[in-house]
Amino acid sequence: MLVRLNVIDREGKTTALDIEEDTTIRDAIEEKLSPDNYGVCGGNCACGTCHALVTPSDFEKLKAAEEDEISTLKEAAIKPTTHSRLGCQIELKKEHNNITVTIAPD
Ligand code: FES
Repeated sequence: MLVRLNVIDREGKTTALDIEEDTTIRDAIEEKLSPDNYGVCGGNCACGTCHALVTPSDFEKLKAAEEDEISTLKEAAIKPTTHSRLGCQIELKKEHNNITVTIAPD
């Protein structure tokens, strides 16, 4: 099943991506949009460069962040907010269909 992920890039352009369920947000963005300096640790929760700002109404649909993700967000991501997540830690499921995320500045 395909899940739609709307992505606002660093230039403010929105692109709708239709991706396989269980793909991470990081892998979807890397594969389809390949932004510079994005997801550089390969999805290992270490670099903070897959930082995404989740639209507040969609944020609640996501599984809560685990300790590793919270500490990498604090230590490595640039200016995290209360709606920040690491794209590599979120596998897209059907209940996430049509959520919108913004790629954080690098
Ligand atoms: S890809 Fe490095 S923390 Fe997510």
